[in-house]
Amino acid sequence: MGKGIFITATGTDIGKTYVSALLVKQLRQWGSNCGYYKPVLSGAIVDGDEIIADDAQIVCTTAGLKGNPLDRVSYAFEPAVSPHLAAQMEGKHIVLEKIIEDFTVHANRNDFTVVEGAGGIITPLDLDIKLFMYDLPDVLGLDVIIVADAGLGTINTTYLTVDFLKRSMINVKGIILNNFDIEDVMHRDNLQVIERICEVKVLGTVKTNGTRIDFIDGALEKIYE
Ligand SMILES: Nc1ncnc2c1ncn2[C@@H]1O[C@H](COP(=O)(O)OP(=O)(O)OP(=O)(O)O)[C@@H](O)[C@H]1O
Ligand SMILES: [Mg+2]
Repeated sequence: MGKGIFITATGTDIGKTYVSALLVKQLRQWGSNCGYYKPVLSGAIVDGDEIIADDAQIVCTTAGLKGNPLDRVSYAFEPAVSPHLAAQMEGKHIVLEKIIEDFTVHANRNDFTVVEGAGGIITPLDLDIKLFMYDLPDVLGLDVIIVADAGLGTINTTYLTVDFLKRSMINVKGIILNNFDIEDVMHRDNLQVIERICEVKVLGTVKTNGTRIDFIDGALEKIYE
């Protein structure tokens, strides 16, 4: 089976999809035939009979991945709420075995697969069976990258996410700071403080409207390792 990475964030709407799209694009430019897989998506757009998995569509467009974006998603729910509630509202159950099976198909097709979570790492998937987002990296055998905002409040949310993952014995490969402005003294300080107190490397930064991840110290190769 191919290798991969699990992309989480300090919360919802922080930039997992934006950063995943750039990561897939840059890994492909570098020579990998990197793919993308999203286990659970809520807030899918329904247009007549068609379900549009927006996150997968954005990644496919940015990174030039072919095929129907929906094939890269195991569960696409219409309500824009937490996956556990979205599944409940649609009378469905999120089944871990299906996620493992679907991931395996992608992992066998590609030498590397970028897997995007939904929301943050403690997002519930099914409360009855106590299935949470943090169960996925472990069962899929993946290390994690945390996407965090570069701005105010990020030290707190990033530390909490790193600390939770470490306590859960999930390996954090590094952090990518989104909406990073090199001219902003607080952004530069946040980067340093996060590395110091979390004891995890910042692998790269992405500017607002950036078209690439600016990797630090050859981190792209380290992600692929
Ligand atoms: N660096 C950036 N520059 C410009 N816009 C950005 C950037 N990062 C994220 N955005 C925008 O912010 C919004 C949220 O980003 P994104 O969809 O990537 O978050 P997410 O963490 O994937 O959210 P979800 O939890 O819903 O999957 C989107 O409209 C996206 O285009
Ligand atoms: Mg997303």
